[in-house]
Amino acid sequence: MPLCNMKSLLKEAEQKKKAVGAFNVGNMEMIIAVVKAAEDLNFPVIMQVAEKRLTHSPLDLMGPMMVNAAKRAKVDIAVHFDHGVSFENIQKALDCGFTSVMFDGSLYALEENIKKTSEVVSMASKYGADVEGEIGVVGGNEGGNVNHTICYTDPTDALTFSKRAKLTALAIAIGNAHGNYTVAPDLRFDILEKTAKLVDLPIVLHGGTGLTEEDFKTAIRLGIRKVNIATSCYDALTASAQSYFIKDGHHDFFGLNEAMIEGFYEKVKQHIHIFND
Ligand code: 13P
Repeated sequence: MPLCNMKSLLKEAEQKKKAVGAFNVGNMEMIIAVVKAAEDLNFPVIMQVAEKRLTHSPLDLMGPMMVNAAKRAKVDIAVHFDHGVSFENIQKALDCGFTSVMFDGSLYALEENIKKTSEVVSMASKYGADVEGEIGVVGGNEGGNVNHTICYTDPTDALTFSKRAKLTALAIAIGNAHGNYTVAPDLRFDILEKTAKLVDLPIVLHGGTGLTEEDFKTAIRLGIRKVNIATSCYDALTASAQSYFIKDGHHDFFGLNEAMIEGFYEKVKQHIHIFND
């Protein structure tokens, strides 16, 4: 069954010194596009939805669609709950059959982050699901109006956190931010390198939109094993829908549906190529 755990995908990525693309989805067209891109290129992926997006993409509708799409895929796909902050929603994602969840305790002090993340690890373990935690604050915001100020990860805190919270994967902050960057990010690859040497866990890079191919390759060389991509795929879908409407001739939902899938699919493919090059 190609619905799989995130842990196995990240382990394989570590062996190959590559990264798994983790693509945020918000509707059926995006799900279809991610699965098709992964199948066409024959690479595993992680499909995820962020808690902040549930107002547009309710979990009780999105969850079963994501899990069923992964189950019938021809390649391995892990289904992940991104940036969970409420235990209630994390529980719902686990009940839906998500194979991993993120608890984003990055705004808490270290001890509180360890405590709360450990509670999520114990919830997830009942389902055999994996947990991603975060230390340091990624800039911007995964939906909503708050624009978080970047707080670079302290590698020593990352070590303490990873040892005590019993995580599967660790998201760190090296100057990356969610959404389109208004100015080029100041990526602190030295922090990534130090953290990757200290911490015996797959490391996750959030805020993939706007990073260059060179940035991704450096990050992967230094130990990034999961890269989160949302905004650039959403933007590609929107641009593709706009182009469809600009074209002469008849327009209908079915044409729009195909245009949305095509735009998202091409952007996912582009990233899978970079992460596995
Ligand atoms: P972007 O929207 O910047 O690609 O970030 C995605 C992300 O990190 C989801 O958690």
